[in-house]
Amino acid sequence: MNDSYLNFVNSPLGARVARSLGLPKPEVLRRYRADAPEFDGIVAIGAGRSPQLLDAFAGVVAHLGMTSVAHPGAGLWVPLANRHGLMTGRFEPAEPSAGAQARVRALVFDASGIDDSTQLDSLYTFFHDTLRSLDKCGRIVVLGRPPEACATPRQWTAQRALEGVTRSLGKEARRGIASNLLYVAAHAESGIESTLRFFLSPRSAYVSGQVVRIGAAPLTLGPDFDWTQPLAGQRAVVTGAARGIGAAIANVLAAQGAHVIGIDTPAATDALDAAMRQIAGTALAFDIAAPETPAQIASALDELGVDIVVHNAGITKDKTIAKMNAPAWRNVIDINLSAQERIDDALLEAGTLRDGGRIVCVSSISGIAGNLGQTNYAASKAGVIGRVQSMAPYLAGRRITINAVAPGFIETQMTAKMPLALREAGRRMNAMSQGGQPVDVAQAIAWLAHPGSAGVTGQVVRVCGQSLIGA
Ligand SMILES: NC(=O)c1ccc[n+]([C@@H]2O[C@H](COP(=O)([O-])OP(=O)(O)OC[C@H]3O[C@@H](n4cnc5c(N)ncnc54)[C@H](O)[C@@H]3O)[C@@H](O)[C@H]2O)c1
Repeated sequence: MNDSYLNFVNSPLGARVARSLGLPKPEVLRRYRADAPEFDGIVAIGAGRSPQLLDAFAGVVAHLGMTSVAHPGAGLWVPLANRHGLMTGRFEPAEPSAGAQARVRALVFDASGIDDSTQLDSLYTFFHDTLRSLDKCGRIVVLGRPPEACATPRQWTAQRALEGVTRSLGKEARRGIASNLLYVAAHAESGIESTLRFFLSPRSAYVSGQVVRIGAAPLTLGPDFDWTQPLAGQRAVVTGAARGIGAAIANVLAAQGAHVIGIDTPAATDALDAAMRQIAGTALAFDIAAPETPAQIASALDELGVDIVVHNAGITKDKTIAKMNAPAWRNVIDINLSAQERIDDALLEAGTLRDGGRIVCVSSISGIAGNLGQTNYAASKAGVIGRVQSMAPYLAGRRITINAVAPGFIETQMTAKMPLALREAGRRMNAMSQGGQPVDVAQAIAWLAHPGSAGVTGQVVRVCGQSLIGA
């Protein structure tokens, strides 16, 4: 759907009007495009005391083709960068006239060695010096260690403090800049690349203020792994694939090499067929809530099995609980939550979902914060979060990961149905001052479905532009 305010304030006339009236000016977000470089410009590196992740990070930067510059606090970077054959220099504040290649596209701070709150000063110094040099739609990534695994209360405290810095930077930086925190567990250093790539890339345009934990997990990516087609040879089921977010998920997974099996209701057959034709996918017209559907899906996937299952199909039937009828309650819980459980049970029991596979569920910020008129919907979406958290340890033995994305306000037919005032509030009440696009949710799902994301499981990642709701 069209955001006419964003379009207007980004036109020459609209920009003048917004400036003179002091109106907010949401940035046109820089999103991934196949015909533009995904990683370019400069990444400025900072570090606290005894950083432990710079070596792993240098290994990733060596693949990306970005130029690095070290802030004075990150003296260790230079020998590490040299060892990885990287061009590196010292951080200098950017000239306003700097060309695209000379711009600072990302600020990365390794806080993994900080073990006392008195050392948090190093974050102040780095971001104080560098934030103004960060290009619009730039990226901030802070690297830390999971607080709950820290050896001392002081270390836990200091690592937990990183959340406050990172989330506040997202709110302060504005200009389409995203700020996220990655807690990397001990021995997980070799598994950070898919996650770092996502958070440094334009693919994460609408993901900000998030905290992601990367655990240690065996990785199967060989040295010749093709990062441009990470899902090559894989099969992915996407429910609700006829339109909106589901169609975008199908497109992104297919663009990354997967064969997509799209499922939608029989009533949506024409749209589903058209969506699958575009990506040479397979269409299955099933109502996911019908009792026979789980077995039918397992049998349609036959002996070829499936590597990725994306539970995206969902509905709303909004009414305050006193006015809601029982079928509206049951229908929403059944389609949005119970159907996912029945389908996964069938695919897991039959071994159709292969070991090492990925399950990604679509929750919602309503499931985190609750919402007026959405007791049924919020219950279903909070239940999705419970499913992800409870199933992750249970599936770990088969190396299957399960995660959820929780979209905020995304421009689709679902949000187009909202009353105007609510719709406008949903769009603007976030650090990006705009709604997300279906592709933003799809890109986050593709990262979680990536074979390199084996260490990310049991997590809920919001795709909400750092919405104030439930923050
Ligand atoms: N749009 C948003 O802002 C937003 C925000 C948070 C979460 N979500 C979630 O994202 C998902 C996709 O939302 P959307 O905005 O693209 O919605 P949408 O209504 O545009 O698309 C949903 C799709 O699911 C299909 N579907 C519904 N019931 C089904 C069933 N029983 N069997 C098979 N298919 C079924 C529909 O036919 C449709 O194609 C949903 O789970 C929704 O709750 C959306």
